[in-house]
Amino acid sequence: MKRVCIIGISGKLGQYMAELALERGYEVVGVCRPESTGKLARFGERITLHPGRTNDREVIRKALRGCDGVLTVLVPWGVEGYATGTAQAVLDHAEPDARLVFSCGWHISRDGKDRHPWKLRAFVAVFGRIARLLRFADLEDQVEAARRIFALDRDWTVVRGSDLEEGPSEGLPVWARHVGDPVLSSNRTRRIDFARFMVHALTDPALIREAPAIVGCNTPSARAAAGKDADA
Ligand SMILES: NC(=O)c1ccc[n+]([C@@H]2O[C@H](COP(=O)([O-])OP(=O)(O)OC[C@H]3O[C@@H](n4cnc5c(N)ncnc54)[C@H](OP(=O)(O)O)[C@@H]3O)[C@@H](O)[C@H]2O)c1
Repeated sequence: MKRVCIIGISGKLGQYMAELALERGYEVVGVCRPESTGKLARFGERITLHPGRTNDREVIRKALRGCDGVLTVLVPWGVEGYATGTAQAVLDHAEPDARLVFSCGWHISRDGKDRHPWKLRAFVAVFGRIARLLRFADLEDQVEAARRIFALDRDWTVVRGSDLEEGPSEGLPVWARHVGDPVLSSNRTRRIDFARFMVHALTDPALIREAPAIVGCNTPSARAAAGKDADA
């Protein structure tokens, strides 16, 4: 892994990923909306920016040239298929052997075997409907984006984040294949550690074609699971 592109680099997750990728010695390329480039001023010449909307296929094509890894922040903003357009542009223009890592939330399901907490189900039902009505966001768009990724025989990972919080890193989150696994029940991850997991996924072959649902490694549910393992 030498050169990575971060699609949506100006957001909170994107900026954390940029810091972590630079720490690892990667060359960092990024795409963000033109109006957001100022948020990245502190990186100066340490990153190469391609300003543009993340579903702009021409911008993505140029940015992904020569990249071994692509970290994509999938967001469901608007009702014009922004997440699907972003994912499709990445899938179409990434180098054939590039590692592709996408972010989303627990509400995405790969095989329908997740058991979502009632609060999340209620949030998706209520927020999803209101957001779509107000044309503010479309959660189904993120679902469709993920469906297209899952269908491909490429080296992808779709990282599904729990509820997020700010704060110093606690370490690499733990993960499970399905929401509903007791290890995840604390439903809390530091955003910096979400970013850590995304960057880690670039070089972990065990995560290829997986959709890990993550939780902070220091949360009560993760600690309880680790304790049980130690007893065993
Ligand atoms: N927030 C949570 O609690 C939560 C929970 C679980 C999973 N996740 C996942 O974590 C990832 C990062 O989410 P986040 O909430 O932490 O946000 P974030 O990192 O701050 O990223 C938000 C992204 O959305 C872009 N954006 C904002 N408004 C937009 C608009 N109107 N049109 C197009 N792009 C827009 C931002 O670009 P600009 O910089 O240009 O504004 C930025 O790239 C997402 O994949 C999300 O699904 C979030």
